[in-house]
This record gives sequence, structure tokens and C-alpha cells, in this order.
Amino acid sequence: MNLLKNKKILLIVTGGIACYKALDLIRKLQEKESHVECVLTSNAQEFIKVITFESLLGKKVKSNLFTLDQEKNMNHIKLATDTDIILVAPCTANFISKISNGVADDLATNVMLASNKPKMVAPAMNTNMWQNKAVKNNLYTLKKIGITILSPQSGKLACRTEGKGKLMDVDLIVDNLNLFFAEKKLRGRTAIVTAGPSIEKIDPIRFIGNFSSGLQGYEIAESLSFFGAKTILISGPTKLLPPSNVEFISVESSEEFLQKSLEKLPVDIYISVAAISDWKAKKISQSKLKKNSAVTSFHFKQNRDVLKSISTHKKRPKLVVGFSAETENLLKNSERKFKVKQCDWMLANKIDEKYGFKSEKNKVFFIEKNNIKEWKVMTKKLVARKLVKKIVSFFKNYKL
Ligand SMILES: Cc1cc2nc3c(=O)[nH]c(=O)nc-3n(C[C@H](O)[C@H](O)[C@H](O)COP(=O)(O)O)c2cc1C
Repeated sequence: MNLLKNKKILLIVTGGIACYKALDLIRKLQEKESHVECVLTSNAQEFIKVITFESLLGKKVKSNLFTLDQEKNMNHIKLATDTDIILVAPCTANFISKISNGVADDLATNVMLASNKPKMVAPAMNTNMWQNKAVKNNLYTLKKIGITILSPQSGKLACRTEGKGKLMDVDLIVDNLNLFFAEKKLRGRTAIVTAGPSIEKIDPIRFIGNFSSGLQGYEIAESLSFFGAKTILISGPTKLLPPSNVEFISVESSEEFLQKSLEKLPVDIYISVAAISDWKAKKISQSKLKKNSAVTSFHFKQNRDVLKSISTHKKRPKLVVGFSAETENLLKNSERKFKVKQCDWMLANKIDEKYGFKSEKNKVFFIEKNNIKEWKVMTKKLVARKLVKKIVSFFKNYKL
């Protein structure tokens, strides 16, 4: 459904190589009948001429804070307030740094600071820049102040390298904007999502862990929050930034995943995406285990099953969803888990070279009572969207 019709969108374009994609973005927003205003930083104009934007928009682009022509009506305040949403695309590392620190030294940054409207930024930059700790910290600040980050994708970059940093696909940016205006169909619902790996200590310096990136769970938490659910993300250690507008709880061991989940009950929705270890050390050694003693004296014991504990709890959430990662006999093993863990839905995903822990894509089978559906290969973001849409229908039909 097109929810962008007649919406006022202020697009800020900053000076990165992906500037030219902003033109395609404007065209797509015009197709959706949005009213687009555009601000270009002076560095963006080094990449594309203002006239290209003005021809496409059929109106003036704003860029200068200090012109009487543009400022006679306090244009920077008007631009900041007379809009439904502000989108920065592409957003440079420089611009992220400025707005996370409240810098206001040009029209674009003044507008960002003077606006209390919702804001989204779509960063695009070289992989090393994206991975730089300074950029990460700035993004973390943006999330904390409620700005939504449309994370870049992986692929071939203009600097002739390959990695994360490519501007999110323009159609997906439009899709995210559209979703933002969607009715908050899960408003009033609370959700817990667990994500990432668990860490089970062996001795002061070693642990049992796994390769879970946490991405699928983080995407689900973000989608739930987009649909208005009050979302709590309980996560093991990952390299990801928590999404904006979710309550974030950092944990390590299986026992912590369970305790923090129980503390937050009752909730309506529980989605267990975390890769929680089945075992832990029988006894955590207080000192570093020596080479030979580890071989002879190290023993495992089973962890409590977090998902089953939630499914069978007296404060059981109305909808309990599990994930099942398997390297072989995916459906057989997952169907068994589905029964044992007593959840309502289970998403079985195959872990291999192509999909699973390390990939941005997922191949999923959706299991519910008497029904299994195969989902086509999708990005983890789209798997999250599809799942959350199913959750919306579940609660539409939900009777006490
Ligand atoms: C050819 C070229 C390409 C650039 N591409 C990017 C980019 O993709 N992302 C980025 O963050 N910075 C990029 N930069 C650096 C920015 O242009 C620079 O940080 C500038 O100060 C950004 O200004 P603005 O944020 O005010 O628009 C590039 C610079 C050059 C010369």
C-alpha cells in the first residue's frame, strides 16, 4: 500500500559518491506522489550540480544558510518543521559526526538540529570508514537520540573495494519510508527478541561461543518497533549497533538470557533468535586451565532450555517463536524441536557456506502446527518484515 502519497519529505543530500542515487530516490518518491523538498550540502554540489536536482524537482533546491532570498522567512526553521520526515541520503561519515555532536554550521545541519520531526539517515561510505570506531560511536549516539539508521549494504564500492558501505538500495529506502508511515499495528503490544551468540565461560580467559552475528534478531527487533511494539532486545556480544527505539539488554551466558527474559515477563510476543549454547562447563575454573589438565578434567553439562522455559512458563507470552539452526536434516530436526519446545511457530534455517550465521541472507522454512511453508531466499531484513507481518495478522485474529 502506498502510504507516501501527499507526505512531505525533506531530503538532505550530503557529499558522497552515491549522491547521484539521490536523483533516482527523488524520482521514485515522486512516483509515490510525495512532496519532496531538497537540501544539498555545499560538498554534495561538488558531486552533482544543483540544476540537475532543480530540473527533476521543478523547484529550487536549498543549500545556503546565509542568503536573504532563502532566509527572509527563517527558511531553516520552516524547512525543519514543515515536513513529515527528514531523510538524509546519502549520508556521509562527516555529516553523521556533525549531527551526532549537535554541530550547526550550514543549512543542512541547522535544519537537523532545529527539527523535532522523525529522522532517518542512509549512510554510504568506504568499508573502513563504516567500521571506524568513531563512526560507530556517532551512529550509536544517533540511535540513542531516536534517529533511524538505514544501514548500508555489502557489495562492490566505488573505491574499488568490496564490503559494507554501499547505500541501501533505493527501493528499500522507499520501502522503509513507507513502512514508517504504516499504521502502528502492534502498538500496545510488548515483545522480547533474543539475538546473537551466548558465551559460556570455561576459565577466566576462555569460553564456548558460536558464529551467530545477531543480524537476524536485530532486524526483527527493528521491524517490531517500526510496527509500534514496545520491544526489548536481549543480546549476546555482537558487532552490531542496537536499533533505535528498542530497550537493549546485553548478556553473555544462557543463564543470563533466561533470567533477563523471565524478569521482563509478561510480554505478548517472545522471539528466540539467539544461538544459545546447549552446554556449559560443569565447573568454571577460577584459574587458567593448563594444557594437559583441560584434556583430562574438562566436562560439560547441559544448559536449561531457554525457549522451552518461556513456552511452558505460567506467564507464557501469547505468541512464542523459535529459530532452529541446523547443518543437516533441517526439517526433521526442526519439527522435533518445534514439538519439544512447545512454541507456536518455528523458523528453521539451514546453516551452510551460503546462508546462515555469516550471511546477510537467510533461507527459512516456516513451521506451525500441521503446516510447513518454504520461504524463498531473502535478506534477513525481509525475513524480519515477513515474520512481523505474520505477527500483525496473528494479533488481528487473536481472541482471549
Ligand atoms: C571522490 C570522493 C568521494 C567521496 N565519497 C564519500 C562517501 O561515499 N562517503 C563519505 O562519507 N564521504 C565521502 N567523501 C568525503 C566527503 O566528501 C567529505 O567528508 C565531505 O566533507 C562531506 O561533506 P558533507 O558531509 O558536508 O556533505 C568523498 C570524497 C571524495 C573526494
